[in-house]
Amino acid sequence: MTNTLAPENIAVTTDTKATKPSVLMCRPEHFTVSYRINPWMHPEEPTDTSLALTQWNALYDTYQDLGFDVHLIDGLQGLPDMVYAANGGFVLDGIAYGAKFHYPERGPEGPAYMEWFRANGFQVAEPQEVNEGEGDFLLVGDSILAASGFRSDSGSHQEIASIYGREVVSLQLINPSYYHLDTALAVIDPTTIAYLPSAFDDASLSILRKRYPDAIIATEEDASILGLNSFSDGHNVVIAARATTFAKDLLDRGYNPIGVDLSELLLGGGGVKCCTLELRS
Ligand code: ARG
Repeated sequence: MTNTLAPENIAVTTDTKATKPSVLMCRPEHFTVSYRINPWMHPEEPTDTSLALTQWNALYDTYQDLGFDVHLIDGLQGLPDMVYAANGGFVLDGIAYGAKFHYPERGPEGPAYMEWFRANGFQVAEPQEVNEGEGDFLLVGDSILAASGFRSDSGSHQEIASIYGREVVSLQLINPSYYHLDTALAVIDPTTIAYLPSAFDDASLSILRKRYPDAIIATEEDASILGLNSFSDGHNVVIAARATTFAKDLLDRGYNPIGVDLSELLLGGGGVKCCTLELRS
């Protein structure tokens, strides 16, 4: 079967490694850039909410075509970043660890997502520590990679460890453009990651090199359009359409990259993964 990068013509290849994840998304009905909490955001420049919706729909359709179980949370007026569902919490073993946002602009999203988790049968662990959910916590196999530096406090790494009883590996982000872990590191399958070395401090880099000697090393070019901000089912990897080297590296290793263009949501500093929160029961 041929692989393709065009979302309108998805080659859904089958592979025993592929799973059918449940994910939570939030339609960008209220998306705009009205404040600046990361270097990507320029409130003085216009945004096009209808284009954001069209592009987001392509991502939604891609997930449906891949057979994912896609859930939706209603976006709220005045919370333009709520589309970035990855930050709404971290969900594993049926427990949703709620988010507590670093910036007050996003503060009300924490309780809004926790309300959704409760209403949808998840046990909620209320956060004491500042953390931005799957933006900074990524599950790789049985371990949780946890970042701090710009958003989540390091105290949240202890908190998440005590909630799930799993190994938590602390990493430090150092480049403000890659302010969440999911902008600098992608989980491809339980043993494979891709990352941008320059986004991490030296101690974190040695941990990553040691744990994942065969990781895909991203180019600065791909990372600079948030190409690493991708979502994988273990075989099909939904990535930014313009991340061409990353796509080639994935193909070479037998994965199926599927490109989606979310250029409008990039104006808020987010991409594919930011719009996707995995719900693990
Ligand atoms: N404007 C949002 C913020 O700065 C973008 C969040 C992107 N989400 C992510 N998981 N990286 O918080």
